[in-house]
Order: sequence, then C-alpha cells, then structure tokens
Amino acid sequence: MTRILFYLDEPGKEVWRPAFEAAMPGVDFRDYPNWGSPDDGPAYAFAWEPELGLIAKYPNIRAVFSLGAGVDHLTRDPDLPADLPIIRMSDNGLKEGMAEFVLMTVLMHHRFMPRMLVAQRKHKWQRLFPPRAKNVRVGILGYGALGIACAQALRPLDYRLAAWSRTAKPAEDGIEHFTGTNQFNDFLARTDILVGLLPSTPETTGLLNANTLSLMPKHASIINVGRGTLIDLDDLVALLDNGHLSGATLDVFAQEPLAANDPLWDHEKINITPHIASITRPETAAEYVARNIKKIEAGQQPENVLDRQRGY
Ligand code: NAP
Ligand code: GLV
Repeated sequence: MTRILFYLDEPGKEVWRPAFEAAMPGVDFRDYPNWGSPDDGPAYAFAWEPELGLIAKYPNIRAVFSLGAGVDHLTRDPDLPADLPIIRMSDNGLKEGMAEFVLMTVLMHHRFMPRMLVAQRKHKWQRLFPPRAKNVRVGILGYGALGIACAQALRPLDYRLAAWSRTAKPAEDGIEHFTGTNQFNDFLARTDILVGLLPSTPETTGLLNANTLSLMPKHASIINVGRGTLIDLDDLVALLDNGHLSGATLDVFAQEPLAANDPLWDHEKINITPHIASITRPETAAEYVARNIKKIEAGQQPENVLDRQRGY
C-alpha cells in the first residue's frame, strides 16, 4: 500500500484526501500531524511549506513531491537531506491556471484596464485607445512548463511574443527566443509587457532592478507571477513614480503575506493578488503524483526532478 505524508497549512485542505483516494485506490493518506512513525515503512511526502526539520525526521520518505512548481518552500530547510529526490509539480491544472491568469493580466495591461479602474473610482470619463495586439511586444521571462503554456494561450491573439531562458531553445514560429545574460538586455529593450515566470535562485534574485528595468521601453508594464525575489520593489516603485513604467501586477512577494500596512497596496499603478496566479488543483496533481510514484516503483526516472545545482 502506498503511503502519502501530506503537509499543507491552508484552509480547505480537506479536498486533497478524496483526490488522492480517487487517483490511488487504497492509498494510506496521512495528513500532518498524523504522519505516524518513521518505522511504518516507505512513504512519499507531498508538501507545501513544511515545518523546518520535519522531512529529515522521517528517513522512510523516498521522495518529496512539491505541492507547487516552486521548491523554495522546501529548500529553505537546512535539514532537508541532500540526496532526497524532490519532484516539482507540473500537472496540466497548474499550466492551465497560469495560462488563464497571464492571458487575463496581459490583456488588462494591453487594454489599460488598471488605469480605467483608477479613473472609474475618481468618476472620470477617461477614454484610452490601446494599440493592436500585433503591435504589443510581450516578453516571457522563463520559458519552462508554465512559460510555454502562457505563450500558447497568448499566441492566438497575435501578440509579438518573445521568451528568455537560460538555455537555447529550438526556433519556433511566432516567438523570438533570447538566451542567457548576454541577451537579457536586448530582451528587455523589446518588451512592452513583461511576464516574470522564473524560479527563485541566486541567479534570478534581484534581476529586475533600476538598471535593468530602465532598459525597457517607456510605458512598459510588469506582471510577476514567478517569485517575488525577482524584483527590487523600491526600484520598481521609483520607475512607476517617474513615469518610465506604466503599471505592475504583482502576485508574488519575497515576504508573504504582504504586510497589511505595506504602501504597495495603495499604489495606483500596482495591482496585487495574493499568490493565486495558479493554484495546484487536487484532481490533476493527485494523478501526477500517482503517475510518478508508479515510475519510481518501476525503477524509472520520475518527471521534473529538482536539479539542486541549478536550483529549479
Ligand atoms: P520550469 O519549467 O523549471 O521553467 C523555468 C524557466 O526559467 C526555464 O525556462 C529556465 O530556463 C528559466 N530559468 C531559470 N533560471 C534562469 C536563469 N538564471 N536565467 C534564465 N532563465 C532561467 O518552471 P515552471 O514550472 O515553468 O515554473 C516557473 C516558476 O513559476 C516556479 O519556479 C514558481 O516559482 C512559479 N510559480 C508561481 C505560481 C503562482 O501562483 N504565482 C504558480 C506556479 C509556479 P531553461 O529553460 O533554460 O532551463
Ligand atoms: C506556486 O507558487 C508554485 O510554485 O506552484
């Protein structure tokens, strides 16, 4: 019988047990703190932000499935065993959710919706006339599972798409690829609406700052749905205030939740969502975990294993 040690400290987490029972009939699903003893036999952890040191207390864990695509919530634990495989979420539900959110927010920035909402609150009849989508340059920072899903959702609208990644990608119709630090500035200089979809690593931390954001065209806007560590927020605010950038949608922050008294909440050019761009969906995620446990037990390589050297 497969044993799942589940850790999630969020309201509504009860939906996970039936999803696992449907995907893995007969599963022994244990919700923390009822994980039992490490002597109970082999198990797989499925976790989001587990308490520090918890995973190391259970040497019977064969692999940890991250409840999200990001793994910073696991690798922040100094006691996480160095040789334990970490499997990152990459189910279809996560990709669909991110594609929906990015499509919505790119359209909002393209169609000046944040400015319309500000004008509405001031009872101002302010008519703004957006360019055609084919003249709007959208740049996706990070062209992995989620970046690709977003590009697929945006393509039918005819945006001018580009993507930036660490390693080169094969040529593709309708998307211009930029690779590595050498091509980062060129990518920024051609991007009107930037979508941040990078993992949090030492290389991506602070990548968007006064110097780099200033390379973007005047009136460019930023959507950050990867991790908050990407952006120096003081620099972002300064560029919004001096009119170089026109707006930002921020879903992720270096410190979450964002403090209730943080002035970012009230900034007219910033839209904030509470890390909900794409929430892991129980049905597709449980199937993903079940499929990968089968692979592990058949001696095969599971999908999307964290490369600790790269950090994603
Ligand atoms: P992924 O498949 O691993 O893709 C990551 C992409 O980032 C890859 O294209 C990778 O380049 C690129 N990259 C990483 N480090 C880089 C660097 N130093 N320079 C240039 N490119 C770099 O990950 P994913 O599944 O798409 O997820 C991306 C991130 O989204 C997650 O790590 C997580 O933080 C975030 N996320 C947020 C939410 C939310 O609700 N806000 C939901 C899910 C995920 P290569 O292709 O060359 O490897
Ligand atoms: C959410 O932030 C995720 O990493 O899936």
